[in-house]
Amino acid sequence: MKKSLILATALALTMSASAQTELKTAGKTAYKLPAELQGQFAEHLGRCIYDGIWVGKDSKIPNINGYRKDVVEAFKELQIPVLRWPGGCFADTYHWRDGVGPAGERPAIKNVFWGGTMEDNSFGTDEFFQLCELIGCKTYLSANVGSGTVKDMNDWLEYITGTEDCPNVNLRKANGREKPYKIDYLGIGNESWGCGGNMTPEYYAQLYRQYSGYAHLYSNNQYPVRVVSGANAFDFNWTDVLMKYTKNNAEHISVHYYTLPTEDWGVKGASTDFSEDHYWSTINACLKMDSLIVNHLKVMDKYDAEGKIKLDVDEWGVWTDQLPGSVPGYLYQQNTMRDALVASNTFDIFHHYGKRLGMCNIAQIVNVLQAMVMTEGDKMIKTPTYYVFKMYAVHQDADYIPVEFNSPKYTYNGKSVPALSVTLSKKNGKYHLTVSNNDPKVKNTITLDLNKIGAKAIAKQEIISAAKFSDYNHFGQPETINIKTFNGASVKKGTLSATLPPLSIVTIELQ
Ligand code: AHR
Repeated sequence: MKKSLILATALALTMSASAQTELKTAGKTAYKLPAELQGQFAEHLGRCIYDGIWVGKDSKIPNINGYRKDVVEAFKELQIPVLRWPGGCFADTYHWRDGVGPAGERPAIKNVFWGGTMEDNSFGTDEFFQLCELIGCKTYLSANVGSGTVKDMNDWLEYITGTEDCPNVNLRKANGREKPYKIDYLGIGNESWGCGGNMTPEYYAQLYRQYSGYAHLYSNNQYPVRVVSGANAFDFNWTDVLMKYTKNNAEHISVHYYTLPTEDWGVKGASTDFSEDHYWSTINACLKMDSLIVNHLKVMDKYDAEGKIKLDVDEWGVWTDQLPGSVPGYLYQQNTMRDALVASNTFDIFHHYGKRLGMCNIAQIVNVLQAMVMTEGDKMIKTPTYYVFKMYAVHQDADYIPVEFNSPKYTYNGKSVPALSVTLSKKNGKYHLTVSNNDPKVKNTITLDLNKIGAKAIAKQEIISAAKFSDYNHFGQPETINIKTFNGASVKKGTLSATLPPLSIVTIELQ
């Protein structure tokens, strides 16, 4: 046989080889997976709020009182549990009074962090809370600690939640809203180590104690869930100092971790047209979320052995270089099958630590970073990440069932990551098994003894997949990647078996 033919045959064999992995479970439910692990984040950044969500009542783009109709419908379909607003870095420059009252009378401000764009404040507090009511999600407000005051925050809380006859409440009523709104989560500052005030952990800890102590006064005398602005990725000292000084005044503490293809903030890597080295390194970087969570939890345990304080990953996702030609500072990037797998692998990690996590918020919901949807004029596309969120909605508030397995490896250039990632949960008498195959070339088969969970048959099977990791949905071809019916799973003699094609995410409903 010629050398080239031998190579081609070997390659064909590798491509079709299918490793078999036994998923083992004792079948016991461990804890409930908080729906809030699938939270979202909307910042006044680039075209997230304006164009992406808010077009105003007079827009030609079909809208519901100013909110894009297509986007609102897409959000509703996702069953979004919680939405964080107004930032991000923007939050620590935001003065709420600029964003209430008649739109034409609201002052314009410069968005100093994001492109220097003029912000007309037409989307403000009432618009945010009414959006959350429209899509039926909880609210997560980020208070300005970097450039605000305790009084500003208190006035804001009173405007939003107060019921008494006093100026801030009367202002809300004059602006058309009689009933108070509900603040579910209150972030006290954002990235206070960086854009939120460049503070040391010790200094921020004292400010946090001061701000958080007043957070109940104007919230119907109840504290919202108070979130300490957390660490930059692997900065465990930040968590240590904050836990030490705030453990009696906080319900949650956050951390931010972004997945960069190169892990280099200087040149992050492209969002499309990347090759396998960047695909592999992105999956590898995303999986570091596991050790990030484990080690922050270890620090938290020192101060809170009972695990009362929850960890929030309230900013996460893929961060690449902006798309060429897009406005500098708008963080506009494409979203590929690679992003879909980052989302599914990250969810599986969140589920693994679901007992100690309170909320996670992907950055960001529209047109920014790893977005759910992207808009262009009156067009909207759903990204591969959108479909992962949609597929994973079955795990919201479901009972988590731990599964153990030895994952086959996906190896590139001598370096390996696990090829498979898994979640099994139960809700309303139905089991949902979600499996991702990260390998771009090799099929992978899993088996699961259904007797362990008492299920008998497959009720439904679905798949998200693509031929290439760099495939994506674009305005010319919006549904290249979406959820399709799968037929690669079957049950024989009480054992489930499913063969996942390369680059795929599968959910199997069992009953
Ligand atoms: O999500 C984009 C930015 O990333 C946020 O504004 C900031 O908190 C983080 O650095």
